[in-house]
Amino acid sequence: MKRLPKHVAIIMDGNGRWANEQGQDRLYGHYHGVISVRKVVEAATEIGIQYLTLYAFSTENWDRPEAEVTGLMTLFVETIAKEVPDLHKNNIKLAFIGNLDMLPNEAKKALADATQTTAQNTGLTLIIALSYSGRWELVEAAKSIAQKVANGALLVNDINETVFAENLTTCAFPDPELMIRTSGECRISNFLLYQLAYAELIFTETRWPEFRKEHLIQALLEYQSRERRFGKTSAQIQQI
Ligand code: IPE
Ligand code: IPE
Ligand code: MG
Repeated sequence: MKRLPKHVAIIMDGNGRWANEQGQDRLYGHYHGVISVRKVVEAATEIGIQYLTLYAFSTENWDRPEAEVTGLMTLFVETIAKEVPDLHKNNIKLAFIGNLDMLPNEAKKALADATQTTAQNTGLTLIIALSYSGRWELVEAAKSIAQKVANGALLVNDINETVFAENLTTCAFPDPELMIRTSGECRISNFLLYQLAYAELIFTETRWPEFRKEHLIQALLEYQSRERRFGKTSAQIQQI
């Protein structure tokens, strides 16, 4: 318990493949994916993880067939409305990162309400990446820094990693120490490009709709078995 990551990030992948394997359409997989979200949020709270980021929809996912995109947007709105009372009761604070301007108005409103309702909660911070992409976020940060320099509020020489991170959508959260991707794909798919610089990456074959508490625990144990060296030698790490 002493070596738990504070922040776990998950790329929830494999809903579509799971559904096809059941002879169902892709949206069936997304609906089942919500059950996994609930279970993983419960488990993370119980284990004592402080921040959980879930990649729910990428900027690139807007290019999927219209019926799937519309279905996903409806699912987000329905799920938020249904889950917020319980999340709030469990002291969970919700946050959303991504290019939220691209979302339909109904979804924007649901997110704003959920954020406001849970703003004072002090338990798990649940961060949902929606219409998110790491490159989009980095470009936005560059723009906001450039604006501050142009306004005279910031000197070029004062730009450092801390200042940069303060201009990211994740400025209020520590970097994830552990990133899990389900369903076998070994890539980042434009997720938290800056923040994952030193995260431990775990790729599991389990499809997201089948991911449960035991899979999270398995990943945490694997994380704890790794030596995080941050560029140092193993001998240096063992002295600490
Ligand atoms: C992840 O599952 C959920 C979203 C990207 C919205 P996918 O929909 O990518 O499922 P696969 O990868 O096609 O199986
Ligand atoms: C990444 O999954 C995005 C989310 C899980 C929300 P994708 O299924 O969209 O990623 P690629 O296209 O396989 O890289
Ligand atoms: Mg996928």
